[in-house]
Amino acid sequence: MSILSNKHILLGVTGSIAVYKAADLASKLAQAGALVDVIFTEAGEKFVTPLTFQSVTGRRAYTDSDLWGNEAHVLHVSFGKTADLLLIAPCTADTMAKLANGIADNLLTVTALAAQCPLVIAPAMDGGMFAHPATQKNLEILKQRGATVVGPAEGHLASGLVGPGRMSEPAEILGCVRMVLGKNGKLAGKKVVVTAGGTQEALDPVRVITNHSSGKQGYAVAQAAIDTGADVCLITAPTALTPPVGARVVNVKSAQDMIEAVLSEPADALIMAAAAADFTPKTVAKDKMKKRDGIPQIELTAAPDILKTVTSQQTSLFKVVVGFAAESQSLLENATEKLKSKKLDMIVANDISSTDAGFAVDTNRVTLLFANGTSETLPLMSKTEVAEKIIEHTSRLLE
Ligand code: CTP
Repeated sequence: MSILSNKHILLGVTGSIAVYKAADLASKLAQAGALVDVIFTEAGEKFVTPLTFQSVTGRRAYTDSDLWGNEAHVLHVSFGKTADLLLIAPCTADTMAKLANGIADNLLTVTALAAQCPLVIAPAMDGGMFAHPATQKNLEILKQRGATVVGPAEGHLASGLVGPGRMSEPAEILGCVRMVLGKNGKLAGKKVVVTAGGTQEALDPVRVITNHSSGKQGYAVAQAAIDTGADVCLITAPTALTPPVGARVVNVKSAQDMIEAVLSEPADALIMAAAAADFTPKTVAKDKMKKRDGIPQIELTAAPDILKTVTSQQTSLFKVVVGFAAESQSLLENATEKLKSKKLDMIVANDISSTDAGFAVDTNRVTLLFANGTSETLPLMSKTEVAEKIIEHTSRLLE
């Protein structure tokens, strides 16, 4: 189940052209299962009508007229009590100033004052307004009080200026919301290292030997760990994916780079979802190999076995070590052998022979095998759901 399922999110929409992106954000939150109540400021309403937001959230959008309506005296108090998170996106300099100074002169700011839940703001304003000492001071005050600030991003601003002031993209804000909601989860205070992607072993400055790993399962594991409150370090080989918000990312290429990164990140748990190379070219040509020189004979040598190296260290770097076994035949036999030979706490056995599991696709069919001899076979699931299961078991193993 998504971290956002049935979470009550108050989305404050203030007067900035970035409201067009906020509609997409509201839609993404609702699609992820959140119950989104939108609260407009008067200026926010000038850019877009509440109907746009009601259409994507399937719930009422509130405006300042509700501040003086029949439910007025309880509305902000009940919002403040029931909300899991107050997100203000876009948040103008004016609203930031009101929040920093406890001014409560509209439904949104009066709700903010009553709310007990975490506050996330995504500032959006012109560069000069953002740089102004007053705005910077307000930002500092809000951060000190525990608010999470996402962005603003740098780029072209409506005024024609280029600089910081653009509201962050909805996907990034959504990632930030997940991180804040997950903060007190089961893995709070725990560090988890996740590896992902297929390593690239250089042949020459142009060519590499790699594999079909997309990194999707590893990135999903990193996201699931963040959703559960972990401090996540994602050690990733090159992929086409955007890392989850909140992960500290270490970019690597080869299996050798990956082992160096893993050995320098002691943590509570290591989850090796990467498809690290088993073989690497013995030598890397300094210059591009030329066709005119004939077909090269490439000699390979063993790449370091990262898991074996980790679990054979004198002082253990990780309390729990999880591996993957991507197999095209004899899945359980091979996975059990790897669980033992690599001295793992858990192995995720992954059948890559079917078209709906393994590389590139969004679904996976896995069996989890444990060091104590037990196992759990999961049905066909999304890689997100598989990741949640892996994290659930990792946190149980850490207990
Ligand atoms: N692995 C590793 N170091 C490597 C290769 C793989 O630590 N150089 C890890 C993978 O990240 C995975 C587990 O070992 O978690 C099993 O990987 P897999 O490729 O299935 O097994 P191998 O040990 O490479 O064995 P084989 O190629 O014979 O299947």
